[in-house]
This record gives sequence, C-alpha cells and structure tokens, in this order.
Amino acid sequence: MAIITKNIQGAKTILDGGGLVAIPTETVYGLAAKATDPAALASIFKTKGRPSNNPLILHFPDFKAMAPYIKAIPDGVRLLAAKFWPGPLTLLLPKTTLVPDAVTAGLPRVAVRVPDHKLTLGLLNQLDYPLAAPSANPSGYISPTKPSHVNIQLGDKIPMILDGGNCEKGLESTILGWNDDGIPTIYRKGIITKGDLETVLNKEVCIYDSHSQTLEAPGMLSSHYAPNTRTLLSSTISEKIDENKHLKIGLISFKNAYEGDVAITKEIVLSSDGALDEVAYKLYAAMRELDGLGLDVLLIEKVPDTGIGKAINDRLTRSAITGTK
Ligand code: TXA
Ligand code: MG
Repeated sequence: MAIITKNIQGAKTILDGGGLVAIPTETVYGLAAKATDPAALASIFKTKGRPSNNPLILHFPDFKAMAPYIKAIPDGVRLLAAKFWPGPLTLLLPKTTLVPDAVTAGLPRVAVRVPDHKLTLGLLNQLDYPLAAPSANPSGYISPTKPSHVNIQLGDKIPMILDGGNCEKGLESTILGWNDDGIPTIYRKGIITKGDLETVLNKEVCIYDSHSQTLEAPGMLSSHYAPNTRTLLSSTISEKIDENKHLKIGLISFKNAYEGDVAITKEIVLSSDGALDEVAYKLYAAMRELDGLGLDVLLIEKVPDTGIGKAINDRLTRSAITGTK
C-alpha cells in the first residue's frame, strides 16, 4: 500500500525523480507526475490503464507559472483566471513546445488549471515544472474523492498519496476551450456552470456536443465514471425499483428515501435538503460504497437538471449503461 502523508518534501523528492504521487484537489484526487518528463508521463498511462490518446491536464500554482507553456491567450482568459483560479476550471489553450506531445496526445491545445487545495498548492509552489494529473482511478472507473479510494485501487502501484482529506467539491473540473470560430465552449460540465462563465465573459458560451463532432476529448465520451455493478439511472425511481424487484438492489436517492414495498439491500440518500453541492460532494463515495457490496444492480436517481445538477446528471449518464430516462 502507498504511504498516506502530508509530507510535501517527500512528495517533491518522488516527483523530481520521475515517480508518481496521488495529490488532493478541491475536485477529485489526481495521479500526478512531472509533466516535462516523458518517462514519468508514460507511467501515468500505464498505472491507470489509460489509452495514450486521452490527454492530461497540467496543474500550476498560479497564472504566471503557466505562461511559458501557453502560446496565445484568448480574450477572456485573464478574466476567467482572476475570477475562478485557484478553482475547478480547466482551460484548453494553445501549447508551446515546452509541453510534451504525450501530455496532449498530439493535440495542439493543452488543458491547464490551478487547483484550489492548500497542500497541493504548497507542493506546486516548490516545483519548477507543472504536474500532469488525471483523476487517480483506473481508466473508466469512478474518480476518487478520499485517500482511501486511491489506496484501494492504486496503492500497490504508487509510493505515496498526499493526504488532503475529502475533496471539497467532489466532481471533476469544468473544461472550457474556444472552438474554431472563437466561441467559448464547454467540453466537460462541472461545478462552474455555463451561467457562471457567461457572467464573467459577458457573452454566450456553447456546450460541446460529443455525439455530432470528432473525438476531441476521449474522456468525455460514454462509459466513464462507471461502477462495475450494472448501473441504471432514472428520474422515476420507483418504476425502476419495481422492474428490478427480484434482484439485490443498491439505491442512491437524491433527496427522499424510498418508501415502497420492494426490499432494497442498501440505500444512500445524498441530500435530505436537496442541496446539489452536497450531492456532488457525496456522490462518488456513495457509488464506490455500493459498488463494493456485490449487488445485482445499482439504481441512481437523477437530480434536477439545474445549476450544477447538469454536471451531476452528465456524470451519472456516463456511468449508467441503460435506463437514462
Ligand atoms: O478536476 C479535474 O479536472 C481532475 C483533477 C485531478 O484536476 N482531473 C481530471 O483529469 O479529471 P482526467 O484526466 O480524469 O480528465 C480530464 C479530461 C479528459 O476527459 C481528457 O480527455 C480531457 O480532460 N482533456 C485533457 N487534455 C485535453 C486536451 N488537450 N484537449 C481536449 N481534452 C482534453
Ligand atoms: Mg478521469
């Protein structure tokens, strides 16, 4: 198992030498390596079982540290950074040659962000390179929001997990880029919403449609964030329960506990107040817990499709194989 520690100097020593360290962020835990070291990058892909055509996000301590890695700064980037960094916003920007091709899978743009976590910012401030870090889970599985999540799955493959406790937000960052027509475009929904971005940019932001266009970001396609248990998503959850009543059911409810007659092996209610930030904070831990119980089916209730509910439903849709009604 990996060492779980708050020792930044120890983490720096491992990273300087090309090793991997799991790092906390406000969104989810990342599997970090020195972004300018191709061998270290290769071990990220190997450890996660991640296809090499799926690019990585670079993490910086601040805007200034990012500048040498970016060729051009589209209008609005400074405003967005001033408002949302450190925080859960990733920007897709044209890269300089300092960024190895392995980071971007050969794409001309690199994903960059400044994470909002004291320990990780403390670490980044000690380094003279950015950290490449995808979520610290085996490729395709649910992102980790606690050190124990990382340790269970990757603990025998990495030496260290920096212990930043539970991730405060619990959902991966919003990804924003500019399309060929210069229109700001959301490539992955997150805690920072379309409305939040439009307010700062003072213009309309589009949402990238991964079904109708070419593969620009493989991780945004289906079958990600997925438990091993067959997972069904529905907004009419009692119907789904009736349909599956002869099975061992795990249930993740949004706000109200199930009151029907069918036996549920284990139910988790995410937020009795109906608070979407609480849902985001608890969702992945709940999915992991139920996925570990050997159930036949995991039923998850859709949340209201407003504000960050859109990002939550987006992840749920990708984690469920059917039943997306
Ligand atoms: O909140 C987060 O963003 C977390 C923490 C650790 O920072 N990271 C994270 O990384 O979620 P990952 O690798 O699990 O998801 C990053 C997504 C992937 O879907 C990837 O395809 C996309 O970002 N991406 C990365 N670089 C890209 C690029 N140059 N162009 C298009 N998409 C990119
Ligand atoms: Mg991921």
